[in-house]
Amino acid sequence: MATPRTITLSVNGTTHQVTVEPRTTLVDLLRGDLGLTGTHVGCEHGVCGACTILWNGKAVRSCIMLAVQADGSEVTTVESMAQDGELHPIQQAFMEAHGLQCGFCTPGFLMSISELLTRSPDPTDEEIKDTLGGQICRCTGYQSIFTAVRLAIKKLADARAAGGSA
Ligand code: FES
Ligand code: FES
Repeated sequence: MATPRTITLSVNGTTHQVTVEPRTTLVDLLRGDLGLTGTHVGCEHGVCGACTILWNGKAVRSCIMLAVQADGSEVTTVESMAQDGELHPIQQAFMEAHGLQCGFCTPGFLMSISELLTRSPDPTDEEIKDTLGGQICRCTGYQSIFTAVRLAIKKLADARAAGGSA
């Protein structure tokens, strides 16, 4: 068995030092070692997007990334979104626009959309569809998720106009 390695990473703003086997995936570290089970595991081979998290601000699939690759990096998971019991505007938009049914895919969508709207606060329809196309949802048919993204864009713009931090 390969020698375990101790790594240090920031997850949702908190620094963690953990000892992992070299074969441990990042999603297993998040869910198993850190108890952050909001990140879901579906296909486990990089296709469905359920495990999407932000790695140094970039949306990545944590099932095909090794935990040791996250050494020294900043990871953001869906648990970072709601603050003080208040849903993040993107989460609120998903709820209001019925952007989910079973919810299994939702954390991955939230993280990839969060990356998109940080990078491109006023995206084109094509940019939105391109982002949604990277995630698999077996329930909604995607139209309600698209509507939720448009609603989220409006909510975030309103919050910015009102001087909020969202
Ligand atoms: S569980 Fe990672 S992409 Fe499907
Ligand atoms: S809401 Fe069920 S898989 Fe997307």
